[in-house]
Amino acid sequence: MYKIVRKETLNDAAFEMEIEAPMVARKCEAGQFIILRVGEDGERIPLTIGDFDREKGTITIVVQAVGFSTKQLEKLEVGDEVTDFVGPLGRPTEFHDGLKRVVGVCGGIGAAPVYPQLKALAEKGVKVDVIIGGREAQYVLWADKFKTFCDHVYIATDNGELGTKGFGTTVLQQLIDEGVKFDEVIAIGPVIMMKNVVKVTKPYNIPTSVSLNPIMVDGTGMCGCCRVTVDGQTKFACVDGPDFDGLNVDFDELMERQRFFKKEEKYVDEHADR
Ligand code: FES
Repeated sequence: MYKIVRKETLNDAAFEMEIEAPMVARKCEAGQFIILRVGEDGERIPLTIGDFDREKGTITIVVQAVGFSTKQLEKLEVGDEVTDFVGPLGRPTEFHDGLKRVVGVCGGIGAAPVYPQLKALAEKGVKVDVIIGGREAQYVLWADKFKTFCDHVYIATDNGELGTKGFGTTVLQQLIDEGVKFDEVIAIGPVIMMKNVVKVTKPYNIPTSVSLNPIMVDGTGMCGCCRVTVDGQTKFACVDGPDFDGLNVDFDELMERQRFFKKEEKYVDEHADR
């Protein structure tokens, strides 16, 4: 069993948990994910690793309580245990050689998976910036954590409550217009956000990495739900990713597939016995 050693509410939708999982913490790398279950009959929940502490043997995850299973997880408190915690899964992020300046663009809980990638780059001596987007100030996550190693932490909120009024892409476009040269952009957040980041970077041919964790279901390469077309080839986010070359991802097909089970998910959320 895997004990919850810290729990923090981040906003009205998301929470952060630090969970004891020494074997996972020892081996995991930026970009990888874990799968956990709450209870013997629990659904598998794939979550990208936000942070890890090899000495303490813990993994930090950030979760948005949007469906039945994530709401079950939200009910657990410090001292409680999750039934399964499997990982590290997926391919670690591959960092290209010769990077001088990289910017992460994150939306909502996407800040968590961007964090270990930018941190690893900063440790290699790459100059890193981050743009954190959220609907309102409460959805802007981990700004203080990023400040410990990022050159610039930019914030954008839809309503202008904090930082620039607009989206992460608004800030990214402004920086490009000002002549800031990024060797790579790492975009993680809702699929529509990643699609829009690619719309900004593609005309300049800026290599853009996206993480397709949001489309995973079982995380084992068997259910087929995370199928995605990248550069005309079929890939599985859980086996071949989660990171992909965003410039070549077929986002329209991906978004269409995401809508497949909306009705069933809503039904379970409304009718499941809690
Ligand atoms: Fe099921 Fe990848 S999540 S095959």
